[in-house]
This record gives sequence, C-alpha cells and structure tokens, in this order.
Amino acid sequence: MKVAYVSTPGGPEVLEVRELSDPQPGAGQVRVRVRAAGVQPFDLAIRSGWRPQYAEGELPQVPGNEFAGVIDAVGDGVSEWRAGTEVLGFNFLSCYAEYVVVDAGQIVEKPWSMPWEVAGGFTAGAQTAEIAWEEVKPGPDDVVLIHGAAGNVGGFAVQLARLRGARVIGTARSEHHDYLRELGAEPIDYRFGLVEQVRDLAPAGVDVVLDGAGREALAATLELAKDLTRTRTIYEHEAGPKAGIATLSGARSASRLASLVDMYAEGTLTALIRSTYPLERAADAHRELETGHGRGKIVLTM
Ligand SMILES: NC(=O)c1ccc[n+]([C@@H]2O[C@H](COP(=O)([O-])OP(=O)(O)OC[C@H]3O[C@@H](n4cnc5c(N)ncnc54)[C@H](OP(=O)(O)O)[C@@H]3O)[C@@H](O)[C@H]2O)c1
Repeated sequence: MKVAYVSTPGGPEVLEVRELSDPQPGAGQVRVRVRAAGVQPFDLAIRSGWRPQYAEGELPQVPGNEFAGVIDAVGDGVSEWRAGTEVLGFNFLSCYAEYVVVDAGQIVEKPWSMPWEVAGGFTAGAQTAEIAWEEVKPGPDDVVLIHGAAGNVGGFAVQLARLRGARVIGTARSEHHDYLRELGAEPIDYRFGLVEQVRDLAPAGVDVVLDGAGREALAATLELAKDLTRTRTIYEHEAGPKAGIATLSGARSASRLASLVDMYAEGTLTALIRSTYPLERAADAHRELETGHGRGKIVLTM
C-alpha cells in the first residue's frame, strides 16, 4: 500500500510517499481501504519529532489518527462488521495510508449522506469538542467563550454548545466572522483587544471557556472566566493546568462518535472542509495547516 511516511523529523518536506506491505487484520480487528484521512495539528507535531508520553515507538512513522473508508477484510472473532461496509473511525499513527487495520470497536457506519472528505476528517474535531462539553456542561444559562472558533475543533464546539442552549462568543480573524455567525456564534477578532471585546458582549464575564488557541487566549481566559473549573484548554498542555485551566481527560469512543454522526445525518451538525489533497501531496496539506490560520478541516484523499 501507499503511505505518507516520516523517517526523519523535520518540516513538511520529510513526509515522503512510499510503499509498505498491506497490513493484515488480527483477531478483533478489521482492515479498511481508506478513502479519506483528516490532517490535525497533532500530526504536524509528530512529523516534527514530538511524542506524547503515552506513545510508544520511534520514528519512522505514518501519521494520522482518523479515517474513513470501506471494510475489505475482517479478523477472527469479528461478527458485527462485514466487508463492503462504509465506515469512519479513529486509530493512532496509521491513517495517512491506503489501508488501516483497526480494532472493530473504533469504527462506526458512515451515513450515505456524509461525503468521504467529511467522514475522514470528522472524528477528532467532533469528539474533542463533545468531550470538552461533557466535562464542563454548557447550558442555557451560560455564556461560552471559544478561542479559535473557526478551526476544526472550534467549529464543532460552537455548534455543540449552541445545541445545548448556550450563548456562544467565538474568536477568529474577521474573514471567518460570517461563518461563525452561520454556526450561531457572536464573533470577535482576537487581534484587537480580546478581553475588552468579550467584556463588551458579556460584562459579567463568561461561564465556560474552551481554549483552542493558547498564548494570549490563556491569559484572557484567566481574566474573563467566572469559574476556572469550567474552563478547558486543548492547546496549552503545560501552562494551562499550572494556571488552573485543565486539559481534557475524556477518551474517544465509538458510541460518542455514533451519536455525533447521527447528528450530522439528521442535519443538526455541519462540517466544513477547508481543502483536500491527494495522499501524494500530504506535505502541501501540512504546509497549509502549519500557517495556523483558516477555517474548517484539511483532508487527504486516497
Ligand atoms: N484532544 C485534544 O486535546 C485535541 C484534539 C484536537 C485538537 N487539539 C488541539 O486544539 C488546537 C486546535 O485544533 P484544530 O484542529 O481546531 O486546529 P485548526 O483547525 O488549525 O484551527 C486553529 C484555529 O485557531 C485560529 N487561531 C490562530 N491563532 C489564534 C489566536 N491567537 N487566537 C484565536 N484563534 C487563533 C485559526 O483561525 P484564524 O484564521 O482565525 O486565526 C484556526 O481557525 C490545536 O492546538 C490542536 O493540537 C487538541
């Protein structure tokens, strides 16, 4: 199979396309012929040589933690899935590839109405946003502040907070403000007096915060949040907890993914694709994401 592969840490140019032997599903696993795979900021860090504490193994690696495709082989003991079923799911360091072998409990069926690009880049952002809200529980009496609201996680976070009845203030550059309004957020441009603009909209402060941007957003959260126990950062993994802003503790699950996919199929949740690249151009996908700006999701197709 063809994969995008990192043998030496570095810039986007180290992502090389090469052939590896096709993986075989073991007991409890399925093999999926991948049609699309999401590109995440996490992948940029992996490519640069960073490893999370829980990750085993050294480079070389195939990045990518989310995918969509068609099951083409089923391992021993798997009775709930059959070849030919269209699915999406999550896996760790493996998805920039034509085939992924994954635990049968990490996939859900793809609705016919969900395009491949949307399915391939759906699980990480949607689940991250939903995990945050499961932890801090925004509701109808709350003003929610989302830093980085136009991004992949942010776009889902805006919609899922609105569905819980909260009022949402979202930060983004002004070119994304119409998009944020469509999702139901009140937009502000973080470059021009972030704290003052939020105070103009919510003089009493904000009840819930999701920080997807870090740096000044962290300082602003400390100034604006009424209760730090209802704040989360997905960016500042060290400085956040030191300041009293926790990172997420929930793990991805197929049951949460299934309910988010249902919401997409019913039309209550939307997903914006920023751009798609063929697998062979994974380096260009990384270059685009590495700008740090833009709205929606970047996806590889194969
Ligand atoms: N489980 C987890 O903890 C988890 C899971 C997924 C992602 N993450 C992390 O969450 C962060 C966001 O991920 P993502 O996939 O949503 O990334 P993304 O799609 O690249 O979105 C990032 C957004 O941040 C905005 N931005 C840049 N600088 C900003 C600033 N100073 N203030 C406010 N917004 C700013 C950008 O929009 P503009 O054009 O408006 O600047 C962009 O829309 C990343 O750090 C990622 O690693 C964590």
